[in-house]
This record gives sequence, structure tokens and C-alpha cells, in this order.
Amino acid sequence: MRNRDFFRTCIEQCLTYKRWSIEPICRRMKKAILSDIHGNLEALRAVLHDIFEREIEEIIILGDVVGYGADPIACLNLIYENASIIVLGNHDLAAATGEGDETFHPDAKASIGWTKMVLSQQDKKTLMQFPLVQESGQMHFSHGSPENITLWKYIFTEFDAKKGFTACGQKLIFVGHSHTPAIFIEQEHKRMFGGEFRKVTRIVQPFVRIENDYRYIFDVGSVGQPRDGDPRACYGIYDKDGRRYELVRVTYNVQGAADKIIKSGLPVNLAERLKRGR
Ligand SMILES: [Fe+2]
Repeated sequence: MRNRDFFRTCIEQCLTYKRWSIEPICRRMKKAILSDIHGNLEALRAVLHDIFEREIEEIIILGDVVGYGADPIACLNLIYENASIIVLGNHDLAAATGEGDETFHPDAKASIGWTKMVLSQQDKKTLMQFPLVQESGQMHFSHGSPENITLWKYIFTEFDAKKGFTACGQKLIFVGHSHTPAIFIEQEHKRMFGGEFRKVTRIVQPFVRIENDYRYIFDVGSVGQPRDGDPRACYGIYDKDGRRYELVRVTYNVQGAADKIIKSGLPVNLAERLKRGR
């Protein structure tokens, strides 16, 4: 795993912005946060292309690189080359070790069986190198809710988000797993009568300004199998300098990814759902 050529990027930015001091530009730190790629190479390539056209210094992956899609190895190699942080997802774990697929939907289980077969021992070792959680300064990165990392809990509702905020001290919490992009804002937190009160609001909008007094859970949605009714690939951008978070949608060759799923003998429904975005 390596960072992209950081200094080359800085120099290119200096040339672009005609600012000759590297330092202020280095501090901009825009991060792209991707989750749930699920072996969809067409979607991943389109997203990386979009990322490379913006001034983004770092790529972070929130797990589930494999499972469902027909290109698990190519996706694994691409993110390994380009991402600086990668955390493990429940499908990655199941494909690498066979653990945890007992509760999966039959289509998911079938795709894990197929993925296990095509991944090499080295690919499985690579997956198992990824940690369950990464924390850096005010940021937390995990696949599921910080509420209980090994139980792979979803954050769909404000109630789910409150449990995530309770379990995590960070200001900016980035998760995937639900395949449904959303932003949860903790606007108030106080201890009262021996308990705690949290005011948490769920919003779905293209961007949000990050306020000093609030905490946030950003569900970045899914690159390779969105389920919010929009089939376009989805990822988040955190701009530290601009104090904003943006949700990006990227059009990709859905038919191409669907055709490969059918050709590989994976369940047809996994191809169909890409077109529906469900
Ligand atoms: Fe997933």
C-alpha cells in the first residue's frame, strides 16, 4: 500500500495555482472515502477517474472490496495501489476466511463461495492485513458502526447513529456497509439525570458544511452496489481546509458490470440489482 506521489501532486498544484510555497497547499488535504466496491471494476475505475480529476491527496477505503461482483482481484489490486488506508469489511472477511457468511442472503453466500474460489492465498492474506478500524486525529474509519466493530452493525436511523456516537469519541466518523449514503449530525449532547441526551439528525444532501460544535457520521454509500435507488457509483469527499463534506455520484458502465456477473455464473439477481440501484 502506498500514498500517491505526494510531492509530485504538491508541485503540480503549485504550478496550477501559481503558489510557490508548498506548505499551504499540502495542508489542504482533501480525502476521497470509498466503501463497498464489491468487485465492480467498472464502477471503481469510473470513481478513480473522477478522483484523479479533482485535487484529492488521499484515498481511503471502508471495506467490502470483494463479494457480489465479477472482478474481486482487479479491484483489490487497484485499491492496494492507490489507497493509503483500507479497513476490512464483512464480505472481505468471509471471502478470506469463510467466517461470518452464515447469516448472508443466499445470493451473497453464493458470491462469497465463488470469490473464495477465485482469490489466491496471497489475495486472502492481503485482505486479512486490513484492520477493522483506523483512527487518525479527529477521524474514525470503519466498515460498520463503531457501536460494535466485530458485529458489523448498520447505521440506517438516527437511533442507530446515536449508538455509534456513544461508542466513538471522534468528531468525524466515516462508515459504509449500508450501501445507502446519509449524513448524521450530532447537534447536541448532554449528560442529564445519570443518563445522556443526544440530538441527532439524519440528512441526505450533496454536501454539508462542517461546524465546530457538531459531530458527524458520514455513510459514504457504495461504489459497486448502491441500494438507494440511484444506480450511479457513490463516494464521499472530505475537504479539511474547506470544512466541507461532499457526496459524489459517478455514472459508469452498469451494463458491462452486469454482463460480467452473468458470464461468471454468479446469481442473475446480482446483475439485475445494479441496474435498479437496489
Ligand atoms: Fe457491502
